[in-house]
Amino acid sequence: MIRMVNLYAQYLSVKDEMDTAIDEVMRSASFIRGPQVGLLEQELAQFAGVSHCVTCGSGTDALLLSMAALGIGRGDDVIMPSFTFGAVAECVALMGATPVFADVNPLTFNIEPESVERLISPRTRAIVPVHLFGQPCDMSHLCDIAEAHGIAIVEDNAQSFGAGCRMNSGAMLPAGSIGKVGCTSFFPTKVLGGYGDGGAVFTNDADLATKIRMLANHGQKPKYHYRTPGFNSRLDTLQAAVLRVKLRHIADWTDSRVIASRRYDDALRGVAGISLPVTAPGVTHVYHQYTLRVRPDLRDGLKDYLGNHGIESMVYYPTLLCGQDAYKDISRTDTCMDGAQSLPQSVLSLPVCSHLDESDQNRVVAVIKEYMSLHAG
Ligand SMILES: Cc1ncc(COP(=O)(O)O)c(C=O)c1O
Repeated sequence: MIRMVNLYAQYLSVKDEMDTAIDEVMRSASFIRGPQVGLLEQELAQFAGVSHCVTCGSGTDALLLSMAALGIGRGDDVIMPSFTFGAVAECVALMGATPVFADVNPLTFNIEPESVERLISPRTRAIVPVHLFGQPCDMSHLCDIAEAHGIAIVEDNAQSFGAGCRMNSGAMLPAGSIGKVGCTSFFPTKVLGGYGDGGAVFTNDADLATKIRMLANHGQKPKYHYRTPGFNSRLDTLQAAVLRVKLRHIADWTDSRVIASRRYDDALRGVAGISLPVTAPGVTHVYHQYTLRVRPDLRDGLKDYLGNHGIESMVYYPTLLCGQDAYKDISRTDTCMDGAQSLPQSVLSLPVCSHLDESDQNRVVAVIKEYMSLHAG
């Protein structure tokens, strides 16, 4: 089976380094708040070019902690894309605020700034751009909107760790370092993934970082003195040790995914019934996913055909958030969803990872071409 990601091959490529790092934690038996956690936070802050990084239990927790620290709650609106994973909407709703769903650009899959502008109201407290599939949103435009209305930006950078975004100033900034706060996930399949759950928050605001750190550790400061009700959301020392090893290889592994994506581009360009992923000008794409748009009447058939030939593919995401049971009665949605509405029926993500075998990739391409030549002609 050709899987979406091959995490075992990735592990084998750094086995000695990884086993040593894990062994060190086992010997120290310092499983919570061990020294590797602080070291990882320093390395991540440096990587992202921010002053503070606070690790936590998951990417969802990173979002939740950020929203709690910003005081987002009842009576507040938070604008987010309608086409994404459910974590942002969930966190907003759990804070008692209203999820407000914006349209997305059907080519880049990212939130459409014009839609965000239409949704701004006196209740808007934050915009959450989700840098989907490895590609940063149009952050210059979104920062202008946020600044004009005095609104915070909370970046959901769960899928685009290491991507870059050129701002109006000309500066190329790391995704996740641009807003008031940036959140990432270390879910195993992510660009920087652990061997379990994990997440982190990035910010240049020292007070916000302190608050998030306190909230993530039961709201206590110092120990057993509870300033506010908090959460138990800490990155395990073992995960920190794993992530420190992987961070050393992240540039090479990202290059491999970009190269594999270019190979898909070259091989699939011009195939009838398929549109290739589009990279917006001024951003670097790290291809967490390589996502095609397929003629909607052929998408499920192609997915099944790939599956029958031992090739995994995934539909990220099969429904818009605005229509989901959890949110349809407690949210607001842009009246225009022209960009987003066709995506659930057309998107198909192909295997892409740091250790995708080229011959496996050729097989994926051949099977896609075979199916499309039979059905899209
Ligand atoms: C866009 C996005 N946001 C947030 C999350 C939540 O991250 P986690 O699974 O670490 O809680 C994910 C993870 O799948 C994601 O893809």
